[in-house]
Amino acid sequence: MSDKRKIVVTSALPYANGDIHLGHLVEYIQTDFWVRFQKLRGNECVYVCADDTHGTPIMIRSRKEGITPEELIARSHAEHLRDFTDFQISFDNYYTTNSPENKALSERIFAAMDSSGAVTRKSTPQLYCEHCKMFLPDRFVKGTCPKCGAENQYGDSCDHCGSTYGAEELGAPKCTTCGATPVVKDTEHLYFELEPQHDYLEKWIPGHTTSDVSNKLLEWFKEPLRGWCISRDAPYFGFEIPGHPGKFFYVWVDAPIGYIASLQNWCEKNGRNLDDYWPSSHGGDESAVELYHFIGKDIIRFHCLFWPGMLHAAGFKGPNKVFVHGFLTVNGEKMSKSKGTFVNARTYLDNLPPEALRYYYAAKLGGTTDDMDLNLSDFVQRVNSDLVGKITNIASRGGQMLQKKLGGVLGSLDDEGRALVGKCREAGDTIAKFYEERRFNQVVVEICRLADAANEYFDRREPWKTVKTDPETTRVTLTAALNAFRLIAIYLKPVLPAYADKAMALFGETEWNWASLAETRENCALGPYEYLASRIDSKQVDAMIAAATVKPGDSGEVSHESRASKNKSAPVVHKTIDVPQIKPEIAFGDFEKLDLRVGVVEACEIVPKSSKLLKFTIDAGPLGKRTIFSGIRGAYPEPSALVGKEVVFVANLAPRKMSVGTSEGMILYAGEPGISGGVVSPFASAGAGTPVT
Ligand code: 2FM
Ligand code: ZN
Repeated sequence: MSDKRKIVVTSALPYANGDIHLGHLVEYIQTDFWVRFQKLRGNECVYVCADDTHGTPIMIRSRKEGITPEELIARSHAEHLRDFTDFQISFDNYYTTNSPENKALSERIFAAMDSSGAVTRKSTPQLYCEHCKMFLPDRFVKGTCPKCGAENQYGDSCDHCGSTYGAEELGAPKCTTCGATPVVKDTEHLYFELEPQHDYLEKWIPGHTTSDVSNKLLEWFKEPLRGWCISRDAPYFGFEIPGHPGKFFYVWVDAPIGYIASLQNWCEKNGRNLDDYWPSSHGGDESAVELYHFIGKDIIRFHCLFWPGMLHAAGFKGPNKVFVHGFLTVNGEKMSKSKGTFVNARTYLDNLPPEALRYYYAAKLGGTTDDMDLNLSDFVQRVNSDLVGKITNIASRGGQMLQKKLGGVLGSLDDEGRALVGKCREAGDTIAKFYEERRFNQVVVEICRLADAANEYFDRREPWKTVKTDPETTRVTLTAALNAFRLIAIYLKPVLPAYADKAMALFGETEWNWASLAETRENCALGPYEYLASRIDSKQVDAMIAAATVKPGDSGEVSHESRASKNKSAPVVHKTIDVPQIKPEIAFGDFEKLDLRVGVVEACEIVPKSSKLLKFTIDAGPLGKRTIFSGIRGAYPEPSALVGKEVVFVANLAPRKMSVGTSEGMILYAGEPGISGGVVSPFASAGAGTPVT
């Protein structure tokens, strides 16, 4: 029987409405280390993930952008995958929760849960907007925080005091869509009852995660477990629940099912059977495959309570372990947009190499739930001194000398060389154990210890001196140093895959796995020496932080702070607004000449070769359609966001021939939102441009 393990691994599915940032990467990078290690060991390991695409925030965001949720999630999927790929994170499948597989699986799992008696129906009071004719999800209602009294807070939690509550507890609630005051109305929801699984889960939890996580969870077991609300009212971007028209699965129901759906999609693409990879009552042998979830500590409840409960109720294999990590801090603090430490993956990649972050994360991650600090000066220092100065240095000194002075051919090992290489080889079991236990920091410690030994050997043998007098002894020295480096590079392969591939090419090999550690490269030619890693500079870090720094008032949003500051004599920091001189007074008769009409933007497109103009097609009802060119592109880089909006336009302005076409009117725009006295003009300065509706 083969001792090859079959392993399925997941990372939490990132929401489709946001960018990947360095905090997310703590998880994907460590999962990738572990998966690559398993593959290097010769195990069959399938790493699946997907975008988490459903729920209210995605609906709101797409509405705001004037695109469909499907367009939004397609765009995010491409961006996320590009970021992950550039960080050398190698999923076997990166899918979406908005897939036919996920819909079918969600329905199947729900049906199984329901028929096991685990799903109940309860009527609960919820805010309802009579005007919009809908129950208001938490993010569709704002009011006064019931705890601290802060105004303008969403229905789930307060930005000001951080407390969480039910939307119906808000003071003076308002529908964020129409501004009407909602009423409290009863609505029926579906609940997944956990109490029937009290004993099962209480026994299950300790064996499937670390003791700190399980101790916390088990505190809830002193009382009966509360049912979990698994439905949401329409409108909701998600899957409608069969047999319950107008009710949708809460995003946290179909998100973890998305793990199975992504795996199923991988199976379909690779001619495999899902039962062999995620066994269930449909088939498959539970003990033939291991399932592991990597998650952050904020979503423990979903993965260690609801999810195993759902799987158990529905007759699916549960995870073997849930690996929980902590949060990322930067320079010892929570990531901050204003300090520039909330860094998106792309901003990092624009300034620094992915290997540096992968290496640093490995050096810091110990497989615990402790938070991990990215200390930026330590980051530069460790990458330069350890990865470049210590590890890569062996290859660059040894490889280049062998190429330049000794024809690029390796010799044989002498006793001292064999001892060095043997020491590197002996570390294999320890390193493998550390990898398996996700103690990547210990892997790095071991690797650095071996690199120290190789450098010490190199320096003691002084090949730069002997090369002039005794080339063959020098060849023996370099052969040992390079073979030591080769083993180190194999150990590093899960952390630095692209680096290891270049190192492998140096030795003229085409595949490295754990068995490659047993080989020694002697009396053979070296491939050409390619640069493996270069030093990073703190200036690159500074540039990244500068690029990530969000000043108050950036991104077109006027914060409460900047609004308040306009009344004070203190300098206004958010934006300088030029208020043009008021024009000469006009008689009422002049004003009366303007025929102002409301129209709906039917289409809005960029005008090629013009940095300012947008071409509008306005549906002016009885007046028909109008083409209007407007110099407002600076404020609307995404013109599709304007489609469907109502605008006021001057309907009786004489048509004006422009180089790009004829403009049949003029659209009015308000100036800076929230700034009284802003200009209403077709040529309001960039940054302005809220259509007057
Ligand atoms: O917390 C989050 O970012 C969620 N999108 C994670 C989902 S993980 C899984 F359950 F789908
Ligand atoms: Zn409303």
